[in-house]
Amino acid sequence: MAIQPLFDSSHFDPGRVVLPDIELVRGLGKATDVVIGIAGSNGRSTLVGATSELESKVGKAGTLLGLLLDQGASHAADEVTELNLPGLRVLAVGMGGDLDLHPEDLRRAAGVGVRRVLSIVNGSGRRIVVSLDADAETQVQAVSEGALLGSTGFRKLTGEPAESPVASIGIIGSSRTAQRGLAAGRITAHAVCVARDWTNLPANLLGPNDLVEQTRGYLKDAKIDIEALDERALEKAGYGGILAVGGGSARPPRLLRLDYRPRAAKRHLVLVGKGITYDSGGYNLKTAESLTTMKYDMAGAADVITATKAIADLGLSVHVTAYAPLAESMISGSAYRPGDVLAIFDGSTVENIDSDCEGRIVLADALARANADQPDMLVDIATLTGACMVALGTQVAGLMASDDATADRLLDAAEAAGEEFWQLPITEHARKQLPSEVADLRSKANRYGGALFAGAFLQHFVNDQTSWAHLDIAGPAWNRDAAHDYVPAQATGTGIRTLVALAASMTD
Ligand code: BES
Ligand code: MN
Ligand code: ZN
Repeated sequence: MAIQPLFDSSHFDPGRVVLPDIELVRGLGKATDVVIGIAGSNGRSTLVGATSELESKVGKAGTLLGLLLDQGASHAADEVTELNLPGLRVLAVGMGGDLDLHPEDLRRAAGVGVRRVLSIVNGSGRRIVVSLDADAETQVQAVSEGALLGSTGFRKLTGEPAESPVASIGIIGSSRTAQRGLAAGRITAHAVCVARDWTNLPANLLGPNDLVEQTRGYLKDAKIDIEALDERALEKAGYGGILAVGGGSARPPRLLRLDYRPRAAKRHLVLVGKGITYDSGGYNLKTAESLTTMKYDMAGAADVITATKAIADLGLSVHVTAYAPLAESMISGSAYRPGDVLAIFDGSTVENIDSDCEGRIVLADALARANADQPDMLVDIATLTGACMVALGTQVAGLMASDDATADRLLDAAEAAGEEFWQLPITEHARKQLPSEVADLRSKANRYGGALFAGAFLQHFVNDQTSWAHLDIAGPAWNRDAAHDYVPAQATGTGIRTLVALAASMTD
């Protein structure tokens, strides 16, 4: 008799990710709360987005800036000053000392303001207007992303009925460019929220095939082809890496492939996302502490799936193929062992030095497969190494690339999207450490420069002529601290906005 799980991922319909209503508004209307900015230089503060309508609400009591300064308002980044006017709460969010505001300043201020409103009163029934003087498409997109992403937090799995929908949000603006920015912001924010929810799902509720089924539901109305190889198909095609890593689990591995191909597209972007639904470390078992969060080791897969959906929803004219090698790394009689030699999709062999290097092994198979698509650009994204976190901390993701021009394209996309990446080198020294005594390659060298060695290892599976970048998001994919600005606790969805911006840069 099959044992029916009491509780499984079918309870989680990504279509049910509910974001607040958001629309462009011309004025305050029935707002209960209004978020504005306060920026400054040389100790002098200036309000951002203080409309004449808002000033008129102050009446004879003084100026809005004057009243806020009386409350101790500061333009220090992320600081919030509240001012209660009759029937309207004003929140002035510090935007820093630089009056030259970038989209990321707007995204953050909107996130800080909306999060603060929702923390004071539990959201429902609030009507929040965000007034930050945004008009250009990229500005309005940033404000709407910040407002939407800041309005949602980590949600507990609970038997309680779902919370009622949160506040509605209005953004001051009316132009065509503002309309486009709002539509784009809504699409990317939704993608990020789906990825966060998937990543937060514990591994008992989300195995490799569950993520495939979730993806089918999520993409049912999108013009995206889906293919999922099961364990038999993986074996037939020669995916020895994915099969080895997934071999220890009762839930077999999958290789998910999505294809979005609009007719006019000239260029082809191929994405590969690490999808380890749980990383126990295998026979190189992790420590008790690091085991607790290893459900987030599929964040890269969630990123490429949701980014592809966002790219399709935006109607970007670029051919996008996404691969997600999905496996659960467990210990059992069928688990792969340290010392095993694995045959990768391209025919090369790898000596498994340490079963906790599972990510690079499943990525090797997927990257080798991706070459056959002849991409104009190939990008993999993975929670790959603790070493990258040692190097760059938890807020900055690592970037390694086939060449500096490709790295710069990624850095430009990340800058536009407000995500932080830092380039690391793939050194000759790292490459020299690749050969194994018993196979073509070994999966691990010594512990120094672990992120670079992983990069060199992955590069081995990518065609020499291909523009390729590797994004190591082990740090920023997970927020270990409390929520801040538009980033919730736990899964963050880091990388999606950069991938979407990269696709947008390939449409001309
Ligand atoms: N998924 C981990 C990397 C990781 C660590 C992500 C911490 C997020 C937080 C990866 O599979 C891994 O275990 N890497 C090892 C590689 C090592 C054995 C060479 C690591 O970083 O310790
Ligand atoms: Mn591992
Ligand atoms: Zn891992």
